[in-house]
Amino acid sequence: MKLKTKDLLTLAELTPKEFSGLIDDSIKLKKQFKNKGNKPILKNKTLTMIFQKPSTRTRVSFETGMYQLGGHAIDLSSDDTQLSRGESVEDTAKTLSRYTDCIMARVYEHELLEKLSEHSTVPVINGLSDTFHPCQILADFMTIKEKKKKFKGLKIAWIGDGNNVCNSMMYGAALSGVSMSIATPKGFEPNKIVLKESKKSTDIELTSDPFTATKNADVVVSDTFSSIHNRDLKRMKKFLPTFQVNSKLMSSANKDAIFMHCLPAKRNQEVTSAVIDGSQSVVWDEAENRLHTQKSLLAALIHA
Ligand code: CP
Ligand code: NVA
Repeated sequence: MKLKTKDLLTLAELTPKEFSGLIDDSIKLKKQFKNKGNKPILKNKTLTMIFQKPSTRTRVSFETGMYQLGGHAIDLSSDDTQLSRGESVEDTAKTLSRYTDCIMARVYEHELLEKLSEHSTVPVINGLSDTFHPCQILADFMTIKEKKKKFKGLKIAWIGDGNNVCNSMMYGAALSGVSMSIATPKGFEPNKIVLKESKKSTDIELTSDPFTATKNADVVVSDTFSSIHNRDLKRMKKFLPTFQVNSKLMSSANKDAIFMHCLPAKRNQEVTSAVIDGSQSVVWDEAENRLHTQKSLLAALIHA
């Protein structure tokens, strides 16, 4: 799948056809990998990874994905680079573009990614910012496609914080035509602009009642109540116990509903152990699918 966009910062850069094409390619790459292994389509290509925040899945799936496609990844904490001593983002972007074929960055402020994108001549991928997490949503929709075999007519219930993953999920819903009901405490709603844009293409409802959200839902999603960038931990009081996904809430969704979580999870906060470790949970497939979607995205952006 060739993409028109140079970068992937939000998901809004993609057309519905490109979004579903990336997911179909990820499913093909997964099959190929499990059968005979992937072809080295990224031979001699290098990815720079910059991390301002901790990561397990994003770091390991990007590095392993590059390796399995015949390429190489360089893992940098931003403290290891001259960025930490004041070299500008512009100069860093220009320099990295002369060495490597793609830059993936996990940052606090989303604007830093926009600056990287503006000044680099190679693709820039958002590996999570305070506002968006597009790579997670590619893996999530791949998982939904594998489990439900379709997007049309499905409903996602998002329970908890209207955070970066929720913002990207609204774009994913808009690109696939899946509807969403988002249950958050008052004051923790998702980004208003993203909501308005996404509502042009699909139904998205906001509520403060989790049971309204899970009614007729095919997919129930939660995430931490306290993202890496949230410093005020008093916020937890607003979420518990109402916004915890437990067996009672899960059983109010459709019988064959699946439970998803981008991980890392705090068991018995946003989700009970019974749900995340239960038969409806698909979180390990979801985590694995980060690897396969990373590969199809890298191949598409690097034009392998
Ligand atoms: N889901 C996700 O992005 O996980 P990491 O923070 O471990 O990369
Ligand atoms: N919303 C979480 C996602 C972690 C993958 C965070 O930003 O910390």
